[in-house]
Amino acid sequence: MLPLLLLLVAAASHGGAAAQGFPIGVNYGANADNLPSPSAVATFLATQTTINRVKLFDANPTFLDAFAANAPSISIAVSIPNSALPSFADQSTGLDAARGWVRDNLVPHSGANVTLLLAGNEILGPVVVPDLVVALLPAMRRLAQALSLEGLPNVRVTTPHYLGILAPSDGIPSNARFRPGFDNKVLAPMLKFHRDTGSPLMVNAYPYFSYNAQNLNYAIFRPNAGVYDPNTKLNYTSMFDAQMDAIYTAMKKLGYGDVEIAVGEAGWPTQADAGQVGVGPEEAKDFNAGMIRVCSGGKGTPLMPGKSFETYIFSLFDENQKPGPIAERNFGIFNTDFTPKYDLGLLRQGSVS
Ligand SMILES: *[C@@H]1O[C@H](CO)[C@@H](O)[C@H](O)[C@H]1NC(C)=O
Ligand SMILES: *[C@@H]1O[C@H](CO)[C@@H](O)[C@H](O)[C@H]1NC(C)=O
Repeated sequence: MLPLLLLLVAAASHGGAAAQGFPIGVNYGANADNLPSPSAVATFLATQTTINRVKLFDANPTFLDAFAANAPSISIAVSIPNSALPSFADQSTGLDAARGWVRDNLVPHSGANVTLLLAGNEILGPVVVPDLVVALLPAMRRLAQALSLEGLPNVRVTTPHYLGILAPSDGIPSNARFRPGFDNKVLAPMLKFHRDTGSPLMVNAYPYFSYNAQNLNYAIFRPNAGVYDPNTKLNYTSMFDAQMDAIYTAMKKLGYGDVEIAVGEAGWPTQADAGQVGVGPEEAKDFNAGMIRVCSGGKGTPLMPGKSFETYIFSLFDENQKPGPIAERNFGIFNTDFTPKYDLGLLRQGSVS
């Protein structure tokens, strides 16, 4: 009885919103001049936190070596730049090019637990380059083949999509479908590839880019009246759930409701341009804690109850050299001295926050 009681007291002292001790992934972007060394980061994540996955925006050998040496159990997603995809898609030389990339970038770092290879980022928009759209799936296929031929069959291949792969809709999840033009031509064959190779469809889900002052509570998992879906008779009290179920619905309409969904990025900033409501440490904490409970806390969504999703919070650190609005530089969940910016319950027991 006593240990359980102590646990309950400990959980209560963290406040209601923290999602205690769940495994989760983080995006580890390094567009900054003030970050700790990759070795220190890898050691911190492996020894002090429940974070078990890291997503890199490249395949930087220094980072891979740091994880190999200090955090061999943390699972890593590495990214291939968009510009490299056409060379892998080429009918005659693509497979050799893909094998070369795998040999140069992954094979020498086999101590790092790379489990996902991301072919480019957001190729299907918001910015659409037709040559890249055409190259994407053939490149993914050649990379999967190359991984197998180079002795890394457990590395799966996917690509992060922005939510605009869905057709514009009224926000009712059961009405969702993929954007016409991409649905049958690009996404159906890609979903078949995911099914055949056991890899997830990866989406970047950002209620942050869809909220306004009126639906803020809906966007950050605070009590709200909800959005009722008349077709499924389900009541949505979180925009993130609605976005996930919209993706699921669109996949199902193409016959691929069985393919796993992974979340490549989801997050909320702690700071934004003056006058923007709904941004701060409390809002960021409520969004990320709610999202963790859905994705790795066993909650799932209304259409996928109890399901878990491989998810990468955006982001591990603030990145002070990112361009764009202030918010872009303030999505981090840890300070550069490894103290949490706010309590998400990701530090292992014994740590204060
Ligand atoms: C690598 O990551 C996977 C997925 O998280 C995990 O199942 C596996 O145990 C990890 N490998 C090592 C060597 O820890
Ligand atoms: C949806 O859930 C919220 C929160 O529990 C509740 O306030 C609202 O009345 C519900 N709406 C419908 C249509 O069931």
